[in-house]
Order: sequence, then C-alpha cells, then structure tokens
Amino acid sequence: MHSPIVVLKFGSSVLENHEAIPAAVLEIYREIRRGRRVVAVVSAFGNRTDELLASARQLFDEPDPASLARLLETGEAESAATLGMALDQAGVPARILDAGQIGLKTSEEILDAEPHEFDVVRVRQELLAVPVIVVPGFSGKLKSGAPALLGRGGSDLTALFLAHGLRATECRLLKDVDGLLQVRKDGSLDYGTRYATASYDECLRVGGPLIQPKAVEFAARHGLSFRIARCGSGGGTFAGPVESSFESIDPAPAPTTVVLGGLGTVGLGVFRWLQSLKSDFRVAGILVRDLTQPRPDDVPSHLLTDSVETLLEAHPELVIEVIGGTGKAADLVHQARAAGCRVVSANKQLLAIEPELLIETSFGHDRLLASASVGGSVPALELVGTLTQREEVVSVQGILNGTCNYILDRVNSGVEFPDALARAQDLGLAEADPHLDVSGLDCVYKLSLLATRAFKEEVTVDRIDCEGLDGITAERLQKASESDGELKLVATARRTSAGIVARVGLEILLPHHPLFGCEKEANRLVVETEGHRQVVIDGKGAGRWPTTVAVVGDVLQCRQAELKLGKILDSRRAKAS
Ligand code: NAP
Ligand code: HSE
Repeated sequence: MHSPIVVLKFGSSVLENHEAIPAAVLEIYREIRRGRRVVAVVSAFGNRTDELLASARQLFDEPDPASLARLLETGEAESAATLGMALDQAGVPARILDAGQIGLKTSEEILDAEPHEFDVVRVRQELLAVPVIVVPGFSGKLKSGAPALLGRGGSDLTALFLAHGLRATECRLLKDVDGLLQVRKDGSLDYGTRYATASYDECLRVGGPLIQPKAVEFAARHGLSFRIARCGSGGGTFAGPVESSFESIDPAPAPTTVVLGGLGTVGLGVFRWLQSLKSDFRVAGILVRDLTQPRPDDVPSHLLTDSVETLLEAHPELVIEVIGGTGKAADLVHQARAAGCRVVSANKQLLAIEPELLIETSFGHDRLLASASVGGSVPALELVGTLTQREEVVSVQGILNGTCNYILDRVNSGVEFPDALARAQDLGLAEADPHLDVSGLDCVYKLSLLATRAFKEEVTVDRIDCEGLDGITAERLQKASESDGELKLVATARRTSAGIVARVGLEILLPHHPLFGCEKEANRLVVETEGHRQVVIDGKGAGRWPTTVAVVGDVLQCRQAELKLGKILDSRRAKAS
C-alpha cells in the first residue's frame, strides 16, 4: 500500500523572505507526521521575480524571452535550494528535483507555456525513497530542453499539474491568508468571512491575484479540487466542483501563551522557532537552572526564571518541557497538568518511568504530546499510532539512539570511542548524562514508549533486556566487517505466543536488513504488521533542529486543538443565547 501524496505549494506571499522557511518546514513535517508523502512546489522568495524582471528591463529594451526565462527561473531555484537545506538541517529526508529531472515538458510559448507531461513514474519512485521532494515551480522544459515559464503565478499551475498526474490526495496552495476572502460590494476584502467552499467560477471571479487564473482553468478542465490556506491552518477554502459557501472566521486569533522549561540544545531551538511564529505563539517565560549563565542576545532576560511556580504564574495554555531527567522536569510536568495546561515533552526518561505518563503518551492525544521523545524528526510514535488504528502490529524494531549510532559509525571508521563520544556531545546529540545513551537506557525508554503504543499494553522498562555499547569488542567489530555487515545498537519489541519480548542490544546487521546503512545520528524504524507488511521510516534522530521540528510540530497540534475547541464552544454559546 502506497502512502497518500499531498502537493503543497508555497507561494511568494508565504515565502516572503528567509525567515519564513521554518513555517514551510513545519507545514511539510506536519504532513509527514500524518503518514503522507509531500511534493513541495515553491515560488521565488517575496518580490524576487519582479526584481529579476526589472533588472532585465533596465538593461535591455526587449529582453530576449529565452534568456529571460533562464533568468527568472533562478528565483524558484534559489527558494527550492534554501528549503532543501532547511529540511536537511531539520533532519527531514528530502530531494530537490527540477523541471528537467521530473521531465516536465511544456508547449513552445516560452514565457506563457502550458504544461504537457511529466515523468510520473520517476516522481513516484523518488517518493518511495524519501518522504519529500521539492520542486521549483513556474518553469518547465521546451522540446529543446531549454526553460519555459508557465506565466505569472505559474507555480500554482505546477502544483495542480503535478497533483493531477500523481493522483494526489490533496493539493494545498499556501498563501498569506487562510482561504479566499469574501469581497464586499465596494470591492474591499471582508477579513471576517471566507469562502468555506468556492466553485471554479467564483475562484476566477474573486481569486484575482491570489490564484493564477490559468491554474484554476486547468483544475476546472480536469475536475480537480484544491485548498487555499495559510501555513498551520486547519481549514482554509476548499475549491473545486462545488457550490460556493461562506463561513465566518476570526481574522486574527490570539497567539497561544507558551512557557518553556529548558533552554539548552533543544530549548533554544524551540524558542527561536516560536519567535519566528509570533502571530501564533507568545513565549511568556523560560525555566532554567542557572540564572547567572550568559544567554544569547535574542533571549530577553526578563523571561528567565529558575522557579516552576513563577513560570506558571504567566498562566500558559501550553507548557513545553525540554529540561530532561526526573527532578525539575517532573515538577514542571505535574504542576502544569494540575493547572490544566497542555504539555509537550521530549523527555523519554520521565515519560517511560512514570506509569501514568507512559499510558497517557501511548494514547497520543492532545493534552500530552511527546513526538520528540522517540526518533527526533522521525515521527515514530505517530506512525505506530496510525498503524494500530488499522491493523495489529507484530513487531517494532529500530535504531533509536542517535549518539550510539554516531559513535558506532565513527568507531567502525577507526575513530577511538572517547573521541567519537566527545564529538557526539559537541554536536548536541548526547544526553546531559551521556551514560544514559551509551548504556542503552535511552533506547530502553524509547522502546518502552513505542511498544506500549504499538501493543496497547504497558511495556515498562523493567520488561526490556538491555545491552549497551560496553558490549563492543574487537571480535564483534571484526566479525561484522568480515561479513560485510555492521555492528548496531538495535531495539526490538515483538509480540510472541509467550507475550511481548523486548530487547535493546548490539547486533550485526547484514546488507539486506532494513536497518542496514543507517548512518551518523540517523534513526530508523521498521514496523511489521499482520500479513508481514513492513513500514520503514527514517530521518535524523537527535540534535537541536531535528528535535525542535518534532517539539514545534506538537506545539502546533496543540494550538489547532485549542482553536478547534474554542470554535466548538463559541458555536455552543451562540446556540444557547
Ligand atoms: P540540555 O542541553 O542539557 O538543556 C537542558 C536545559 O534544561 C538547560 O537550559 C538547563 O538550564 C535546564 N535545566 C536543567 N536542569 C534544570 C533544573 N533543575 N531546573 C531548571 N532548569 C534546568 O538538554 P537537551 O539536549 O536540550 O535535552 C532536553 C530534553 O530533550 C531531554 O529530556 C532530552 O532527553 C530530550 N531530547 C534531546 C534531544 C537532543 O538531541 N539533544 C533529542 C530528543 C530529545 P541551564 O541552561 O541553566 O543549564
Ligand atoms: N541522546 C539522544 C540520542 C537524543 O542520541 O538519540 C535523542 O533522543
């Protein structure tokens, strides 16, 4: 069974500048968490196309179209490359494929061409290898292989054209407004009312600069539906072969008040991402251990406290715990829950050893979210949760500790163990107490969380056998190399006739093994369900940004749940009055 494909198109109004990149990464990551594969079509940043056009016209009275097409397509190439680098940093496996690589052929009108075909098989194959491909929109190739452009706003057409060919589950055109707004009689926009649904005709009539008319006409010819929304939205406008309808919206919902426990490797990443999403989140306090420690200039000192009680006086709706351990972190999580706050935590140790938290994490609902606690950017808990809704899970097996995997990778290449560990610490991969990593315990906590969710039965840490990296011997390394295999720390939990059997330990993996070839700090998970179906996901499992993307993914999910709840309560109040 193939994963559903979603085509996301990031327009220039969304990619206003480089600061908008985290929001785009999050939008893509949100879909991967839902088990979808993503084709991300990008426009040029902000006014880039206009700037390039103006510079050409300043130099030449009538710029040659073939050269102009080459110049203008560099705008989309720049934003695709930037998004590709950002996805890599966040640990999300992605490839950039340009129009030539996906065989996107067009008609011969160089500056206003029609797309004719693309290599559907190639794109589908790429999406089996990685969950995301990034495609620079707006351009295709003439018969000669030279570039052609699809007209102004042509990235919309690229997105719809690819969605149509791939039979995508959804095509979402991301804009700076959350849908198509109603136009008043005087021609002004009503920011409080949007089209819940919009017919093609209505899109053409009022879509104006928001959607390319040529793209709407393409959709109409093929009966394609699509969504117009802003990043992080739970709705927007559904456009297609439908009657138009309206709904009222809160034009600017208040930002969610968030407090942060911890400002270390992960905490600082989370703080910075939340700062780039200021219209959605307000950070009202940060808990640290040492108030005298110097902090980066972008962290306002008035936000810092070393007291849980003071932190919670900000009346947050959401508390993020990225402290680690079972002391202050536990105080914060328990007090936050007692105060009715939603909690996001990356602390596998705490969640695995406290039975109440273990059970609640395994439910995976929006009051306690912990995506980052297992797999970093790899949505491991989400995948297992989704699979268990459909079928029985037979086993989960994975490389779940980035530090150990990094160390083994280096040791296999001849680096001394202490040097490899020191480097993993420098890279921000290791726990504050690295013994938790190298002893295998960190993996045990993660396996406990995963297996409890997979088997709907408490798989507590005391039920998991554990061997750590102290089991590395020269003989085992030699045996691995003689068999063309590799020595890895593998976590496995399997349902057997005698119950759940769970173990963390060193194993020699041979090249045909689905966990073979997992490098550096990467994590990989293989879930086997009844009928011997195997689902494999991977990505970076540790480090600031791969963990940040998972934490902020949870934070966004909480905000959406909160907004949805607010909407339900509002409509109940309206009915009651
Ligand atoms: P870290 O760099 O050691 O940062 C810990 C932060 O918590 C620091 O800001 C520290 O304050 C604060 N803190 C520690 N003890 C405290 C106390 N008693 N009271 C108040 N604040 C305290 O740790 P990290 O790597 O960011 O990891 C944080 C959590 O995320 C852990 O649960 C870890 O397992 C989890 N995680 C980490 C990664 C990763 O790749 N690093 C990946 C997934 C999950 P000071 O700044 O004052 O020292
Ligand atoms: N120390 C952990 C690791 C962090 O290396 O995997 C991610 O959970």
